[in-house]
Amino acid sequence: MSEKIAQLKEKALAELATVETTKQLQDLKVQYLGKKGPIQELMMTMKDLSKEERPIFGQAVNEVKKYLESKFEEAAVVISERELAKKLEEEKIDITLPGYKMEHGNLHPLVLVQRELEDVFIGMGYTVEEGPEVEYDLYNFERANIPQDHPARDMQDTFYIDAERLLRTHTTAIQTRQLEAGKEKMPLKMICPGKVYRRDDDDATHSHQFTQIEGLVVAEGITLADLKGTLEFMARKILGEKCAVRFRPSFFPFTEPSVEVDISCHMCGGKGCNVCKHTGWIEVLGAGMVHPGVLEMAGIDSKKYSGFAFGVGIERIAMLKYGVDDIRHFYTNDLRFLKGFSRFE
Ligand code: PHE
Repeated sequence: MSEKIAQLKEKALAELATVETTKQLQDLKVQYLGKKGPIQELMMTMKDLSKEERPIFGQAVNEVKKYLESKFEEAAVVISERELAKKLEEEKIDITLPGYKMEHGNLHPLVLVQRELEDVFIGMGYTVEEGPEVEYDLYNFERANIPQDHPARDMQDTFYIDAERLLRTHTTAIQTRQLEAGKEKMPLKMICPGKVYRRDDDDATHSHQFTQIEGLVVAEGITLADLKGTLEFMARKILGEKCAVRFRPSFFPFTEPSVEVDISCHMCGGKGCNVCKHTGWIEVLGAGMVHPGVLEMAGIDSKKYSGFAFGVGIERIAMLKYGVDDIRHFYTNDLRFLKGFSRFE
């Protein structure tokens, strides 16, 4: 009998030596030491032995059981350490390897200029307002003092949705909306950026869709001098401290008087160069004092209040500021062009 026990022990130890994983170890343990295993079986045979043999046999089986249990425990420690070492090795990260380069975009030049202009005006206490791109004829033309048969409509022929609605031709449409909405909230001081549309043949300086920022200030006692000071401040912030501003008489149906605004050429400082066509001046925007009729149509007392308005093309400013020679570059999504502006962010 004791030989049988010894054989069992040797067999178990031999198998234990081949075990590699925790799972295999557990299975083997169940196989030998579990309820249906050979050790338990031997215990069951005890009842067939004589009284004298029983304690000796029982002790021998118990010893083997304890011995095997301790061997399994030892093996468990060794195997789990080995497994951990293997896992650490597999998951090792070489932090000295070069990383992946993340591609990231940059702001579009028109967004850069728009944000810069917004910052300048927010700094002067202006709010930033928006309006719909699909606009009523009423706000785009009628309220801007451009009735149905007015020849000024010719210059701003546009895309009509139906008889009443169109793609707005200027941000002055936002101005007339804001005048109406703000008639009880005087004074008004805002800029209105947005896309505008016109029926135009695209070339280096024209686009059927472009971007404007409208400026509007209405309060008691506003004069043309306020307009000039404001535009001079804007030009100096955006194009350089040495910029000068000059007004030339012009005509817009919604302003009276109306002016065309030139700034001194930032390239040659006014001496004359290609950019300013050797005049020393560059035409940048239209402006004027809000026409009393426009104020009245919005429900504002034009005897008490006066205001100025201006409309500046963002593309025009961006072309001057960054030396871009063709407006179409802004819309054709050539990454070689667009990436060049990352340094201005
Ligand atoms: N709306 C005019 C244009 O698009 C610009 C402008 C705005 C002129 C406000 C005067 C006052 O040409």
